[in-house]
Amino acid sequence: MKPLIIAIDGPAGAGKSTVAKLAAQKLNYTYIDTGAMYRAVAWQALHEGVEPNNREIAGLARKLDVKLSYVDGKTKVAVAGQDITEAIRTPEVSRLVAKVAQVPELRDVMLKLQREMASQGGVVMDGRDIGTHVLPNADIKIFLTASIAERAKRRWRELTDKGYTIVLAELENEIACRDKEDCEREVAPLIAAADAIQVDTTHLSIDDTVEKILNLCKERQTNV
Ligand code: CDP
Ligand code: CDP
Repeated sequence: MKPLIIAIDGPAGAGKSTVAKLAAQKLNYTYIDTGAMYRAVAWQALHEGVEPNNREIAGLARKLDVKLSYVDGKTKVAVAGQDITEAIRTPEVSRLVAKVAQVPELRDVMLKLQREMASQGGVVMDGRDIGTHVLPNADIKIFLTASIAERAKRRWRELTDKGYTIVLAELENEIACRDKEDCEREVAPLIAAADAIQVDTTHLSIDDTVEKILNLCKERQTNV
């Protein structure tokens, strides 16, 4: 069967990485977390004490050395050979990443890299601009959403489990700000592709969402 290209976009906490990872496992495809790639650059800016302005981030883009690798089904993220898989999930990185992701030179480098990563097919790629810019010819495009209250609650649970003390209302505010920055930026804003299937996960379980995606793949395979 022809290996498909699946694009999953949507705002923070909609469930993209969880369902993309599971769907990729079931299909024996590669999961590509493009958010992790932007987070890696935000981490690098913090780590090197670089101002997150266009000029400095464009400088980081020119010497970009972000690598995703896969160990026991888990995505590992490295910058210049240093494993930063956990370090990119901190609230500090989450607060900075949308600013970094607005820089056109960085998006340009990422676009080429991500297309190259998907060139063999058999991939599930998630992010903000996958169906619209990175892989406009994807076989299946999903736009996952959920209410802001539900998305903030999900993130709050995750961070609390990791030992962070964080106020739910503040997190909701931060996510709303990041959504706004992602939706309003000039280059490749967060928007559903015209041919994307919209799935609201506010009241939908992870398993049901994955099943929906797998069913779409079956339909698509039979129509190829
Ligand atoms: O996991 P979460 O939904 O919080 O975010 P993420 O997928 O890790 O993405 C982090 C940030 O990277 C997003 O808020 C965007 O600013 C940026 N991003 C992007 O601009 N384009 C992508 N394809 C993926 C992420
Ligand atoms: O990648 P994205 O930011 O869109 O979301 P995620 O990191 O996959 O999901 C955020 C959190 O919500 C995770 O802890 C998931 O387990 C949880 N989740 C959920 O409870 N119900 C769903 N239908 C989807 C995700």
